[in-house]
Amino acid sequence: MNPLQPCMRLCCGLALIAAMGGAHAQPTSATLQLRTLAATCAACHGTDGRAVPDSGIVGLRGRDRNELAMRLLAFRDGTRPATVMHQIAKGYTPEQIDQLAAYFAGLPR
Ligand code: HEC
Repeated sequence: MNPLQPCMRLCCGLALIAAMGGAHAQPTSATLQLRTLAATCAACHGTDGRAVPDSGIVGLRGRDRNELAMRLLAFRDGTRPATVMHQIAKGYTPEQIDQLAAYFAGLPR
């Protein structure tokens, strides 16, 4: 038997589940896309923006939307000094920054 076969079967299964999820449109692909974007922040800011205790990095959930967006844009254009966020913020368009700010602001604190 091809050693990759179980893996391929699993991958097909996952693709099928994903496709079925899409058919029910719950959650929508736009929401999934946004959550994927937001997941890139989780390594440092915690899952769904819930600060990891004693990490020294602030949480993002339930914060003011405009404040989050302004800080991210300031990191992006270099007007706000940072150790890492100036590099990370450059990876997102202003539209994506706005969506991220809205997403985290919309989560209960
Ligand atoms: C590698 C770790 C890391 C990742 C990944 C990361 N951040 Fe940060 N973030 C930081 C650190 C550290 C700071 C403090 C500023 C600095 O030194 O860069 C910060 C600061 C911020 C601030 C300012 C908070 C405040 O109150 O001043 C915002 C907003 C922010 N991050 C949003 C995000 C978003 C949105 C993402 C995902 C797109 C993200 N961060 C991904 C480490 C990270």
